[in-house]
Amino acid sequence: MARAFFITGTDTNVGKTFVAALIARALKARGIDIGVMKPVETGCAVKDGALVPMDAVALKEAAESNAPIDLINPYRFAPPLSPNVAARLSGVEIDMDRIESAFKTLSAVHEIILVEGAGGLLVPLNNDSTMADLALRLGSQLLIVTPSRLGVINHALLTCECARARGLDLAGVILNHPANRSNDASIKYNRSEIERYAPVLAEIPYTPAGGTLPELPETMLKVFQ
Ligand SMILES: Nc1ncnc2c1ncn2[C@@H]1O[C@H](COP(=O)(O)OP(=O)(O)OP(=O)(O)O)[C@@H](O)[C@H]1O
Ligand SMILES: [Mg+2]
Repeated sequence: MARAFFITGTDTNVGKTFVAALIARALKARGIDIGVMKPVETGCAVKDGALVPMDAVALKEAAESNAPIDLINPYRFAPPLSPNVAARLSGVEIDMDRIESAFKTLSAVHEIILVEGAGGLLVPLNNDSTMADLALRLGSQLLIVTPSRLGVINHALLTCECARARGLDLAGVILNHPANRSNDASIKYNRSEIERYAPVLAEIPYTPAGGTLPELPETMLKVFQ
């Protein structure tokens, strides 16, 4: 069975896919057979009559995974809404067993599986379960991606506290810079303030499209050893 890492965020659009792809590339470059999952993707565009799960495709490419896209991404929806709402509007109920079954199939063939959530930790998947329940069910360690900006300390600590209260194994926080916010005075204090509460495994610099992708620090890669 693979070891699993669940990548959640303190919000949507904070860099979960960007960071997960960096991790996948770094592990692949070290010879690790890495699997990826984006169990539920919403806001999918339609191409040639089919929904395209862009996050799942980006993760698959980064990990150079040969797994079928339907295992990597069992559920995809067009409405750009939270999973339970998008599913309901599409006449579907998300079945945790189906996600777990795809996960087990991938786990049997890979050494490590990176699972990207949607939005944050308490996003509902259906009327009974949230992303936190899924992360627990998959026996995964949790990585929290959070954007360095004013307000991040509260968002990061809330997510850490929720993870701990639910018995999740928190591997650490990744402080990302999804935008160039050089005039945000909080940036130089965010890491040390969050670090008083949980390990900050890496700080990922702003990387303009087409720029050289940042290297992940060894301290962070150790989490996957
Ligand atoms: N360090 C970075 N440097 C430059 N751009 C970044 C960085 N991190 C993220 N981005 C950009 O910010 C946007 C949001 O990132 P991403 O799609 O990874 O967020 P997400 O948390 O996965 O979103 P979602 O909740 O939709 O899955 C993307 O356009 C991405 O390329
Ligand atoms: Mg994403």
